[in-house]
Amino acid sequence: MDSASLPPQEVYKVAVFKAEDGRLYRIYVDQPATSTVVIDLNNHHVLKKFQRFAEFGVLAREVAWLRALAGSGVVPALRAVEQSELKLRYVGEPVRQYNLPGNWSEQAEAILAELEAVKCSHNDIKCDNLTILDGRLHLIDFGWATGVGDIIPTTWPKGIGRQHRRDIHCFDDRRAIYAALRSAERDEVDRSILLT
Ligand SMILES: Nc1ncnc2c1ncn2[C@@H]1O[C@H](COP(=O)(O)OP(=O)(O)OP(=O)(O)O)[C@@H](O)[C@H]1O
Ligand SMILES: [Mg+2]
Repeated sequence: MDSASLPPQEVYKVAVFKAEDGRLYRIYVDQPATSTVVIDLNNHHVLKKFQRFAEFGVLAREVAWLRALAGSGVVPALRAVEQSELKLRYVGEPVRQYNLPGNWSEQAEAILAELEAVKCSHNDIKCDNLTILDGRLHLIDFGWATGVGDIIPTTWPKGIGRQHRRDIHCFDDRRAIYAALRSAERDEVDRSILLT
């Protein structure tokens, strides 16, 4: 299964599963994304095809940070890079009240420590960029990540990280991860804000 077999020009997220009898199930997920994401549940990988914001270098930035954080255990392993598509290890479902682990603050601290170790500021931490696999919290979607303290170019979209940021282009990963996970705990995840 690859995203080339899906209708072109659309941006969405879809999960696919092939049963033992060969039947193919496709689950279209009610979740807008800025890239087309195909989740292959048999092979435990995700194909992420960048559709928008190529001019901002989102793919190269995501690749660079995933490599910097490889082995940290808190980001998906990068299995392949091909033109505008990444193959990532599947790291579970977006965090919500039903899958939030009891020790979430401890796991949030572990993520913040890994970011600090490589001097990375993610900039877009929100529940849809935090996933849970087997009770373990992961951070995904590094397209807008920068070095800590780097100036954000004024040309970047103004909606980045809007759920939990301090201000336009003013980010604080610690504040954002706690705000996001507390919103999951209260079952008040804000999914109303889209990047435009
Ligand atoms: N490695 C992964 N494992 C599990 N799910 C993933 C993975 N990568 C992406 N997803 C799913 O696909 C969705 C969109 O992926 P991602 O956030 O990387 O792309 P995006 O299009 O840049 O997002 P956004 O809509 O936040 O701009 C995620 O919210 C998540 O549900
Ligand atoms: Mg995302």
